[in-house]
Amino acid sequence: MARTANEWNRPPAMPEDHYVSSQIYIDPELFSEEQEKIFKKTWKLACHESEVPDAGDYRTLEWAGTPLVVIRGNDDCIRTFVNICSHRSATVAQGPSGNVKTMVCFFHLWEYDHQGRCIAMPRDEGYKEAGPSKAQAGLREVRTAVKLGLVFVNLDDAAPDFADYAGNTFEHFEEVLGSQPLEVFHYGRVKMRANWKQWHETNIELYHEWGHVVNRTTGIRAPGYFETGWKLYPGGHGMLIPKKIRYADYKGWDARSNQTMPGIDPGELRSMDLFPNTTIIVRATNIRIDTSTPIGPGITLLEQRGLGVKGEPAEVRTMRVRDHNQYWGPFGRNVAEDVIFVEAVERSNRQGHPNWGIHSRRENGGAQDDDFLRHYYAEWRRRMGRSSANPSNRAVALAAE
Ligand code: FES
Ligand SMILES: [Fe+2]
Repeated sequence: MARTANEWNRPPAMPEDHYVSSQIYIDPELFSEEQEKIFKKTWKLACHESEVPDAGDYRTLEWAGTPLVVIRGNDDCIRTFVNICSHRSATVAQGPSGNVKTMVCFFHLWEYDHQGRCIAMPRDEGYKEAGPSKAQAGLREVRTAVKLGLVFVNLDDAAPDFADYAGNTFEHFEEVLGSQPLEVFHYGRVKMRANWKQWHETNIELYHEWGHVVNRTTGIRAPGYFETGWKLYPGGHGMLIPKKIRYADYKGWDARSNQTMPGIDPGELRSMDLFPNTTIIVRATNIRIDTSTPIGPGITLLEQRGLGVKGEPAEVRTMRVRDHNQYWGPFGRNVAEDVIFVEAVERSNRQGHPNWGIHSRRENGGAQDDDFLRHYYAEWRRRMGRSSANPSNRAVALAAE
């Protein structure tokens, strides 16, 4: 039966952790609070180490409104700095990437080494009386952790170490990411009119595989698909227990049984998700890594990287790129559709329809159980100190935790 306006507006009759309010996707105040309580306190994937292979190579990004530069030093160590000059706040490293012997600010030419130390100021005798000295003028360093080639940063000097943060979430990814040097062969960015959590949701629930023709064809129909689901880890992280996918069931595709990534079985699908917004997906022959940069409640910059084995023969690389692009390239069967999904939801939310996102599927922890969504939002509530079903009600949220 269709519902009246009253019925439509009423919260779902189910436990509060089985649905979320649409407000969490559109409210600017909640977004600002997320910046403070989540983005500025959790580990963010900045890049892969292969993007800064040599001393002096750098990569810039912006995270939680803070411009950052990730740079490899002469000592081979990868460090991150706030990309703001200590003098009068000009941007130090320019463009998305580059290579520099030292970082020289283009405004008054203060100069910094790869370790963020200020090593030169034109006519520095002018600072003798009042300061600052060079020793007082270094860049602001940002905590950096390299895990299996992935470079993570954290703006909070007091946050737990990356190892404590991630716990055992990488336990089934040590071999695939760490046994051979990998490199990024695909880098794609898309700015979506959608909330950053909506994108992450597409990576942590398989129920939406019904929406993709290719996933219906190759995944949902594969024997055993529904029998296993997610393994959840503390902190809102999780992993998809590996599955066999019938890639060859899609017309024109092959079974992905040769040249699989290290430690990965023919035809396998494996993925892991770190709170709040990093996902690694392995589809037998290649890897995709997602991370997003929330720009506003309804605007998200998504970055995706495709990885292959460094130094592999050209024909193998060609195959990996082809397989990668079948799902995740610009004309692939997944990414564009997922963007359309989340933008459709965002459009309804933005138009002010009070509504709910339903996370109530229970299938004994099977593939299309919503248990990972509930687990993820439990972490969101813990960090925000708010209910996700009724985010205006802070008192209820705190009592419920
Ligand atoms: S702002 Fe960088 S040297 Fe002046
Ligand atoms: Fe999808």
